[in-house]
Amino acid sequence: MNNIVIISPSVRTGRKSHRVAVYFENLIREKNLAGVEIVDLLRYKFPLFEERLKYQNTPLKEASNFAEKIRQADGVLIISPEYNGGSPASLKNAIDLLVEEWYKKPVAFATVSDGNFAGTQAIVSLQFSLSRLGAMIVPATLRFPLIQSAFDENGVPADKEKTDKKSLSFLNELLWYIEARKKMS
Ligand SMILES: Cc1cc2nc3c(=O)[nH]c(=O)nc-3n(C[C@H](O)[C@H](O)[C@H](O)COP(=O)(O)O)c2cc1C
Repeated sequence: MNNIVIISPSVRTGRKSHRVAVYFENLIREKNLAGVEIVDLLRYKFPLFEERLKYQNTPLKEASNFAEKIRQADGVLIISPEYNGGSPASLKNAIDLLVEEWYKKPVAFATVSDGNFAGTQAIVSLQFSLSRLGAMIVPATLRFPLIQSAFDENGVPADKEKTDKKSLSFLNELLWYIEARKKMS
């Protein structure tokens, strides 16, 4: 079975995008689509890294653990909120920590905001950074506007049927890239 890592990057007090990460974890399990794990950057409590992991002399065990999870993942789903038209600094800090781990890794992006535009601007810089690292960018994206009313605190969507339909179609795209990647290995 394929193994999907969901990165939940918000470390903000009262964060809401984590609800979408929990939702995807539950959906993937419910439909038995893949093995799945949330990599929650709030729990990692990373410092602002001074250098990439592979050049660090005494890396934090949390940083090595994060790298190992990305290395082992068949695909990565990043749930990013939009902060001032970009992604959170916590996410860029974690992306820039790694190099080879991202190479040819299928990566899909879903964005979250509390307004109507659902973080569409954050996608651009994220896709560009990961493509520079040689990741396999899944062109399909998913946007979650009005997060505060679209999901409850346990990651349950207000309209489960509609949310599941679009999310499953999006996940199928990620799974397609995971299978394509495996065929070329
Ligand atoms: C520093 C900051 C900047 C933000 N900038 C944007 C923005 O550019 N576009 C947008 O739609 N929402 C923006 N928002 C609102 C977020 O979409 C909203 O707070 C969302 O819940 C953030 O995800 P989080 O709660 O998981 O941190 C911003 C929020 C913060 C804290």
